[in-house]
Amino acid sequence: MSESADVAIVGAGMIGLAIAFELAERGASVRVYDRGEPAGAASWAGAGMLAPYTETANDEALMALCAASLGEYPRFVERVRAAGGVDPRLHLDGIVHAAFGETQLARLQQRAAAIRQRGVECQMLDRTETLAAEPWLGAHVSGAMFVAAEGYIDNRRLGRALVAACRERGVAIARPSSLAVDCDARRVLGVRTDMGYAPTGAVVNAAGAWAAAVPGVPASSRPPVVPRKGQMLALETPVGFVRHATWVTNGYLVPRDDGRLLVGATDEQAGFDLRITAAGIAALLDAALTAAPSLAGFTVSETWAGLRPATSDGRPFIGPAPLDGLFVAAGHYRNGILLAPVTARLIAECVGGRIAGDLAAFSLARAAAEMETPLRGKNKAV
Ligand code: GLY
Repeated sequence: MSESADVAIVGAGMIGLAIAFELAERGASVRVYDRGEPAGAASWAGAGMLAPYTETANDEALMALCAASLGEYPRFVERVRAAGGVDPRLHLDGIVHAAFGETQLARLQQRAAAIRQRGVECQMLDRTETLAAEPWLGAHVSGAMFVAAEGYIDNRRLGRALVAACRERGVAIARPSSLAVDCDARRVLGVRTDMGYAPTGAVVNAAGAWAAAVPGVPASSRPPVVPRKGQMLALETPVGFVRHATWVTNGYLVPRDDGRLLVGATDEQAGFDLRITAAGIAALLDAALTAAPSLAGFTVSETWAGLRPATSDGRPFIGPAPLDGLFVAAGHYRNGILLAPVTARLIAECVGGRIAGDLAAFSLARAAAEMETPLRGKNKAV
């Protein structure tokens, strides 16, 4: 573990692995470092919703980035599957956003009109159509918005698929117990771990919720990323019981092919705490059972929590850092799975010396002005 690599990636989450795969496919020698299991942490904990239009509101630059990534998803998944042989089960068959009551329905109608103005297919369903599409929803549902282009992916399978694809493309994945980026005043030189020293021309910080604290990175090149805890649970339902990923009041439900139904998620400022709490589980069950009393009899088969990497303005950091040879791909908050393909492409273009479009909205330079701004929103479910 002391050979050199063209590119060293710190963080073997979905973002780090997607970048590694992209760079390796372009011919680079790549080494990925993570203390933990590859594709673990938030990459494992997420629900895999691919929802630029129903999840991202009021930020044009972020929505455009998310929409671009959604557009790249089918080809990205096909390349990963072809390389590693694992099918991550991409479902782009639409997302339902259910409304309960006239106020929610009116708000969704406005949102649907705005989504349609972007040229994206978006239908409003009345109560009867909603219950025909998703019969498990409570009879008190008033209607729904349906965005046909959105969907979800089994993120745990995508993690395995990316690890397999990376290995097939010659990417080395190391699990050191200590790591520091080595640099002089001007540029990165290598990566030092308890396994040895590896010289490298480029380092990508893709360390998720830990990205602000990668040892050896000078303060001016550290992305101000903080953890936001998300608790989730899974119910065992019959296969096909829930047909589409569905937003409900204060939560969302995402099916898996084997009948597991993921219920998410809290969004808490709790540092690096990963405990499952009574209040967290109560909030999730309340959201699910208020929307759909029919779920009450199913077994709760799993509870877990992950740490989203959050930034003060909700946008990720993607692009070069002030230190030569250092790049940042972190702070993807609620959209890490969705943004993996576009982030991988943009970072590969940056590392390769190509101008990767206009990345000003996602630059580390904007961080200085934002560092004092408190994160928008308080603790809440969803
Ligand atoms: N993207 C869903 C979540 O972060 O909870």
